[in-house]
Amino acid sequence: MSMNMAASAATTARPLYLIKFPKRPHLLSDSQFRPRLLSSQTQRTTIRATSAVVVESDLSTKQDQGTDVDLFACPICYEPLIRKGPVGLNLSAIYRSGFKCKRCQKSYTSKDGYLDLTVTSGLRDYIEVQPVRTELFRSPLVSFLYERGWRQNFRQSGFPGLDEEFKMAQEYFEPAKGGLVVDVSCGSGLFSRKFAKSGTYSGVIALDYSENMLRQCYNFIKKDDTLSTTNIALVRADVSRLPFAPGSVDAVHAGAALHCWPSPSNAVAEITRVLRSGGVFVGTTFLRYSSSTPWIIRPFRERNSQGYGFLIEEEIKDLCTSCGLTNYSCKIEKSFIMFTAQKP
Ligand SMILES: C[S@@+](CC[C@H](N)C(=O)[O-])C[C@H]1O[C@@H](n2cnc3c(N)ncnc32)[C@H](O)[C@@H]1O
Repeated sequence: MSMNMAASAATTARPLYLIKFPKRPHLLSDSQFRPRLLSSQTQRTTIRATSAVVVESDLSTKQDQGTDVDLFACPICYEPLIRKGPVGLNLSAIYRSGFKCKRCQKSYTSKDGYLDLTVTSGLRDYIEVQPVRTELFRSPLVSFLYERGWRQNFRQSGFPGLDEEFKMAQEYFEPAKGGLVVDVSCGSGLFSRKFAKSGTYSGVIALDYSENMLRQCYNFIKKDDTLSTTNIALVRADVSRLPFAPGSVDAVHAGAALHCWPSPSNAVAEITRVLRSGGVFVGTTFLRYSSSTPWIIRPFRERNSQGYGFLIEEEIKDLCTSCGLTNYSCKIEKSFIMFTAQKP
């Protein structure tokens, strides 16, 4: 830290132990950190997190445009991270910022356009290998092909297509208007970009475990002039370890993802933890079989087929309700299911 910074920190900063972290780090509408809202959007009253925190020297190389308690939380202890750098929920501001957990003393930075908030971020020797259904999508080839044909094939299984799926999700997300949407397992960001473009939400976080999917998403955003300055952030994280404080998110979307998760129960528990009261979860996936599947065929539909973990509707409902979510409902077409549930 420079002499000047140290001097000003000594007069303005409060020791970390005096800072009360809000349970829900939503920010006031006039907060410098709060994403821009369209004037037509309604906004709930929110709590501003306190600022003026001394940030360690490894973050001081970043642009000195502010230090603030952030929307993102430490994936290890879930304490909101301290951010140093330009404010705002957009690619450029996040790229130029450094993030640090004061409790765990771990720093997080961006790489290739996305912020890495996995527990393994920055590790030198340890390499995490996930199940095949997660690893498959980390491949550069699969990530490249995903939005260039792979996803369109889902129609054969009953998926109605991006526009219709987006419309259906938007209807379920009515209670989350003007709030923060996390598109968990966003892939190349097909829906994240639509959520951001809709102008319905104050911010969109496109989150995935795959570095290459996030790179694809970054390229798509960069090519789209209307998106590059919008309130969208790219974050690498594990759905079983979401980098948000409890109750800090208004809506979670997870398109065609549940069958790819290593542990759907841990994932749904995490999603429930980060949702605020009244927050909405919408997911789609392939069913192992549905009520229209002939009985004779059902035993041949294996749960772990082709490396994916396909569930049946009753299991999905059971998972959501056992995690404490309410108002469960779903729409089914062949193997396609869109389900929704709400945090009470
Ligand atoms: C079939 S793609 C779905 C992409 C997009 N949401 C859609 O609707 O087409 C499944 C995604 O789940 C992601 N995924 C798999 N395991 C994950 C994990 N543990 N945490 C977060 N995302 C994961 C993969 O990287 C992949 O991008």
